[in-house]
Amino acid sequence: MNTMKRSGTETAVSTESEVAARVETLLGQMSLVEKIGQLNQVGGVAFAPGPKAEDQIRVGGAGSVLWVNDTKRFNELQKIAVEESPSGIPLLFALDVIHGYRTIFPVPLAMASSWDPAVPEKSQAVAAQEARAAGIHWTFAPMIDIARDARWGRIVEGAGEDPYLGSAMAVAQVRGFQGSDIADPERVLACAKHFAGYGYSDGGRDYDPVYLSETQLRNIVLPPFAATVKAGVATFMSAYMDLNDVPASGNRFLMRQVLREEWGFEGFVVSDAFAVGNMLIQGHARDRRDAALRGIKAGLNMDMSSYAYAENLAELVADGVLSVAEIEELVRPILAIKVKMGLFERPYVDENRLAEVLAQPENRQTARWAAQRSMVLLKNEGGLLPLKTNLQKVAVIGPLADSMEATEGSWMVFGHTPAAVTVLAGIRAKLPQAEVSYAPGPEIRRDIPSWFESLMAGETLKPPQTAAEAEAAFQAAVETARAADLVVMVLGETALMAGEAASRASLDLPGRQEELLKAVADLGKPVVLVLLNGRPLSINWAAEHIPAILEAWEPGTEGGHAVADILFGEVNPGGKLPVSFPRKGSHAPLYYARNLTHSPEGSQMYNPRYWDGLPVPLYPFGFGLSYTTFKFSNLKVSAPQMKVGERVTVSVDVANTGEVAGEEVAQLYIHQKWGSDSRPLRELKGFERIALQPGETKTVTFSLGSDELSYWSTNANGWIQETTTFDIWVGGDSLATLHADLEVVE
Ligand code: NOJ
Repeated sequence: MNTMKRSGTETAVSTESEVAARVETLLGQMSLVEKIGQLNQVGGVAFAPGPKAEDQIRVGGAGSVLWVNDTKRFNELQKIAVEESPSGIPLLFALDVIHGYRTIFPVPLAMASSWDPAVPEKSQAVAAQEARAAGIHWTFAPMIDIARDARWGRIVEGAGEDPYLGSAMAVAQVRGFQGSDIADPERVLACAKHFAGYGYSDGGRDYDPVYLSETQLRNIVLPPFAATVKAGVATFMSAYMDLNDVPASGNRFLMRQVLREEWGFEGFVVSDAFAVGNMLIQGHARDRRDAALRGIKAGLNMDMSSYAYAENLAELVADGVLSVAEIEELVRPILAIKVKMGLFERPYVDENRLAEVLAQPENRQTARWAAQRSMVLLKNEGGLLPLKTNLQKVAVIGPLADSMEATEGSWMVFGHTPAAVTVLAGIRAKLPQAEVSYAPGPEIRRDIPSWFESLMAGETLKPPQTAAEAEAAFQAAVETARAADLVVMVLGETALMAGEAASRASLDLPGRQEELLKAVADLGKPVVLVLLNGRPLSINWAAEHIPAILEAWEPGTEGGHAVADILFGEVNPGGKLPVSFPRKGSHAPLYYARNLTHSPEGSQMYNPRYWDGLPVPLYPFGFGLSYTTFKFSNLKVSAPQMKVGERVTVSVDVANTGEVAGEEVAQLYIHQKWGSDSRPLRELKGFERIALQPGETKTVTFSLGSDELSYWSTNANGWIQETTTFDIWVGGDSLATLHADLEVVE
């Protein structure tokens, strides 16, 4: 009889050796079927194929369950695992809690726009608390894929184009989800995904193959993953696509060499959904048995719902192709995490606590704060913003102005009911005395619907508007705008236009939105454009003709209030773009950290690259305005020369030169002038968001040493720090001009 089986009576183990000993005891009593079961993640909803979840759990054939979002059901399934399965190993319940469980926070791309790691850390701590109260142990987040191609729909789930900013945001999210100890019952396990290179799919087409040199992998794609390992992330998820012709879920180089051998990762790796079985479709595995073998050999611990492991591993062992030791090696970290979490002591969730946790008013306050800090002011000509609260007639126009789905954004699946404050509601709340009219204009929808639509609560599969209905809606919107003194246009993309399976070739405003914007602008009234979107958009016409533009992204539950807080000046925007905004979809991938060429911009023989429009960004990386102005001065490097291995301090004074308090993000960029390899013309290596009263000056300091000045060199085939000279720039965006040199000597 297993004494560890009954919950509530065991004492928690704490030291590494106690954990290891307990894992060995468990392994000693488990059958091969149960060991293989730990490697099997069962899909708890109808669309997941395979035998019924209960049947698999009862025989010890499941280590984890995903796609269930029902507190009572968690306890029912857990009871089967703990009380009916042979060794009583508790299940891990997993779900995609990407930017909030009930209280929805800005999408990750928006949180990265805060350039304030406290935003994702606090937001994900709330998400963790709510999700854990619901019975979820493990979230499939953060997504930390660097994305430089705005056509790729999943750019919304990450921190944008830069590995330095991306690493900071990745670590902050891991801290938020996991806290300092995975035994914390108010937290969840994090999962760094998708390992690795998924953001580099050919043409930005979701799931398409990825070709990356080792130099790109090491310098750009892998740093956020390495940073999460250092931060103690419990789990990784392997990506779907082929990386240099090898599916990521069967990729030994990634999972064994880089992750375990080089980085010393001790947690476990789960595949993406069905990805083990998919190795057959991808032309890598001969059959499902071969797919399972390839997954195990590559070091992939858990099979997410393809059941290739569950169906084939026992036979592979019986045939002598795999050893039990190879299976146990992959089971150990899963058991260790269950032990460390205290899952054996506390397998069940208290069904009476959830409502109370979800009702905490401070969660909504955190969401409003996070949304305020995530928004980016792109234009404010003539000081149109902030608006006055004595406005009498305001029209709020656009298909997203009153859309809860677009306000909450990506990943609101698996039983979620949207409940966001829309921009319309936020503006109405600010102007109780005024007449705030609303017209959506023509609807927008994808040319090809998303398969997520059937999963989304609230997103109904209505037939499309007819041309006549759209025209009537268009005219009604123009007439509504005509009757107002000021118009707020809320345009962008619906929630399902970005995210998984949501890539697009064009970055234009979809549908008739730009046409409507032009028609409203023609009325000659002041127009403010609020963007709700999950990717950079080519808003070239608006950038030229609309005086005020606020990038609000997909801002979450409190999004409408946060937009209104900024529009009416209660909050001064301070966010900065974590991605470059291309002028056309065909300019993607477009990013600031490109290499110099033999014909750089400004040179005599400059070749404009395309003759039909310069591929310079509409808005550069790091850009964002404020209601005040800032001045950077007095850039100092603590020593003009340093030796390899030493550190220098870089300091700069930042002054608020305007009339109101505001926040600026000081950004430090470097460029290695010569060396073994050509290096990007600029690379972010430090940032800090600071608050300044009018007239106030603060000194910001950065530190530069081997971590910042080394890189993976193709010529040296390894990490190097060279004796060379660096350009250093500090300023408020990636075009910063304040400059110093730094020489590195032997
Ligand atoms: C597929 C997605 O690629 C991944 O990000 C997600 O976590 C899994 N499905 C589970 O829902």
